[in-house]
Amino acid sequence: MAKSAPLPGTSDIFPAEVGAWRFLEDTARSVFGRFNYGELRTPIFEATEVFQRGLGDETEVVQKEMYTFEDRGGRSVTLRPEGTAGAMRALLNTDVLNGVEQRVFYIGPMFRGERPAAGRRRQFHQVGVENVGRIAPELDAETIAMLLDFLEALGITGATLKLNTRGVASDRPAAAAALKEYFTKHVDSLCEDCRKRLQGNVWRILDCKVDSCRDIIADVPDYAGMFSESSREYFQEVCKRLDWLGIKYEIDPFLVRGLDYYVHTVFEITHPGLGAQNAIAGGGRYELHLPGESKPVVGVGFAAGMERLLMVREALNLPPDGNLQQPKCVFIAALGEAAEEFKFKLASQLRRQGVTVATELAGKSLKAQMRSANRVNAACAVIAGDEELQKGVAVLRDLAGGEQKEVALSCLNEEISKLL
Ligand code: HAM
Repeated sequence: MAKSAPLPGTSDIFPAEVGAWRFLEDTARSVFGRFNYGELRTPIFEATEVFQRGLGDETEVVQKEMYTFEDRGGRSVTLRPEGTAGAMRALLNTDVLNGVEQRVFYIGPMFRGERPAAGRRRQFHQVGVENVGRIAPELDAETIAMLLDFLEALGITGATLKLNTRGVASDRPAAAAALKEYFTKHVDSLCEDCRKRLQGNVWRILDCKVDSCRDIIADVPDYAGMFSESSREYFQEVCKRLDWLGIKYEIDPFLVRGLDYYVHTVFEITHPGLGAQNAIAGGGRYELHLPGESKPVVGVGFAAGMERLLMVREALNLPPDGNLQQPKCVFIAALGEAAEEFKFKLASQLRRQGVTVATELAGKSLKAQMRSANRVNAACAVIAGDEELQKGVAVLRDLAGGEQKEVALSCLNEEISKLL
């Protein structure tokens, strides 16, 4: 247990870990940029009704997991549990409702009051994308392909893509009735929660994880076969395009996803390197309703859990920061009054030239200063004493090789660059 732990389900990210996060972020920016996506930054909290209406009142996230509180003035606000609803709220300021396409991605923290477990956090981070404004199977397929490109660029292999269709609203009553009839026959073997779901939202039974329910779910009627011809065709068109690209997928009729806004295509990426929380990313096509708007915003997108991406990269033994080159550091050690002034000025000058510099506080012994140089993993050290400075020289030590030499101050910059 850390001496000063953050709240359960939240984490501190220390400087040594940030390289790994940056690698994810840089990779996202570069891959999504190639598909013409621009970064959108929305507030971390929104009016509660954005999520209630956007994700659906019935969803588990809205019912049980939101961090909701009263803002000054009595307005109910909620820390965003996901990125799609807020992004759609923001994009209402563009022409998306008139069918003008917007391509945005976002990176940042999300908040869900879930029971913390490995890979399940209360503050977690998502990188997400939304292709908004238009409806076409090629956009669904392109979005899935982009997600796979992202994972490939992260070096993640061995992931499984699961795919399903949720049809559209008008497809659902008949399919839901068939499911209800089937589950009613087996009600005695269903878990307590699923019995409730049978009355409320029968679809939710499909992703129940209880073993006895799973046995029954395995034999559900082919509800997607009951969807309208145009919905079935839409899904075929998505699959056809994935086939064109040679993308492997599993059609999983039990994949319904927890948020109510989905229509047509839904998908999830799982990885065996994670435990029970094995979804690294999920998404799909949606119709999202927002307060005060009669028309839904349409789009397709996904979000990947960044903590889970890092866990998978670790399980695959990939270098955490993707071998980003850390800039090499110069340590400047000073012995004496004049040397202190020299150190302070040289550090400033080198940093302004873009060099990473570390120093110790005035008055420390040379030994203590060199210990600091080791701690920051400096590539070389400039050791300046008052006597040397009077002669117009300083000592330059190569900390990797161990050699050192006296260097004229006029050549110091040049000699330092050779060691970086
Ligand atoms: P989601 O499936 O709820 O979808 O979350 C996406 C990903 O966020 C999950 O696959 C998982 O990796 C990560 N995640 C979710 N909850 C947690 C948690 N408590 N701790 C750690 N990681 C978590 C959405 O959020 C949709 N907005 C995705 C989307 C975008 N659909 C269309 N556009």
